[in-house]
Amino acid sequence: MKLIKWTLCAALAAATGVWSDAAAADTIKVGVIATFSGPNAIWGKQFREAIDVYLAEHGDEIAGHKVEFIYKDVGGPNADASKAAAQELLVRDGVKYLAGFDFTPNTIAVAPLIKQAKVPAVIFNAGTSSINKQSDYFLRTSFTLWQISQPAGEWAAKNGAKKVVTAVSDYNPGIDAETAFSKAFEKNGGAIVEHIRMPLQTTDFAPFMQRIKNSGADAVFTFLPAGPATFAFTKAYNENGLKDAGIAFYGTGETDETTIDALGDQAIGLVTSYHYSDAHDSPLNQSFVAKLNELHPGSRANMASVGAYDGVHLIYKMIEAAGSDGAKALEAAKGLAWESPRGPVKIDPVSRHVVQNVYIRRVERGVDGHLVNREFATIPNVPDLGYEQ
Ligand code: PHB
Repeated sequence: MKLIKWTLCAALAAATGVWSDAAAADTIKVGVIATFSGPNAIWGKQFREAIDVYLAEHGDEIAGHKVEFIYKDVGGPNADASKAAAQELLVRDGVKYLAGFDFTPNTIAVAPLIKQAKVPAVIFNAGTSSINKQSDYFLRTSFTLWQISQPAGEWAAKNGAKKVVTAVSDYNPGIDAETAFSKAFEKNGGAIVEHIRMPLQTTDFAPFMQRIKNSGADAVFTFLPAGPATFAFTKAYNENGLKDAGIAFYGTGETDETTIDALGDQAIGLVTSYHYSDAHDSPLNQSFVAKLNELHPGSRANMASVGAYDGVHLIYKMIEAAGSDGAKALEAAKGLAWESPRGPVKIDPVSRHVVQNVYIRRVERGVDGHLVNREFATIPNVPDLGYEQ
């Protein structure tokens, strides 16, 4: 009898589309687009492991909805692959949220799709300011190059650099980094002697090191996408004698936690401006790092981890407020504030980008023998300084 009653109830619910509270939770799917293969596969790995941490701490249900993550590999900076992945996730899998996005071109490629589908897309990394202008449905929990490079320019000018050469990857975030640093540095009395732009895919930096030496600068400011490029650039800076020649290094993500130990002693002393270090001194960060290590022994948290961890938090908050209603979810996200492993954060209601502290750090050997980015100066509550540019 019970079974008949339930079957009738289910048939009625299916016919009317209305389920009672007692019915099983519906599933809301989240599509994660990232690089899981090839030389840049570290992005997907870091995103996924951070999502594992969030799920281990918070479970996979929120406000009566079950949350399911679907991962799609795009194999590196590849706009077409990203667009195809988004299409498949939206149309075939019926995802109600998109997330991930390591490289800027992969992110820009999905703007028309999310606009049309009214599906919020939470950016875990890509850092070009103009991305969020391309669709109201973009939200970002990572950083922008403007956000970290303007403070770097101010800091360099106030701390002894007089003549700087900029050396950046020749694509959108590199240009943002070059512009933001240069404007701030010059405004504070410094001189930019040369702008060098390097191909996105290169890992042979010897010719660029020669140009940096020849420029007559007393310091180099650089941005490259974290991974093989930053590792090779930083090695080349040492091996081509720039450090020995006294050319100071002002960087962004070159001393990323996933490659820093492989750089070894040559990384010690490098100064960078960034929004996350796994040595950030807070109880929340310590528990985040500990949980990551428990689930994935040997992994180190980096900016991709914290971007993903906070990104999932934002998605949970949107689901809690609006379920799968994208437009309503977007409104709920605006102005949200919380404590992150990186420090206090807030989603700016206009730019939909994360307002956060920016830290100036220096590489040191930590107590456990690992190299760490030790934060020694904090610029509090920095918005995306490039949004209105
Ligand atoms: C980007 O393409 O926006 C990007 C990629 C790697 C980074 C930072 C930004 O480390």
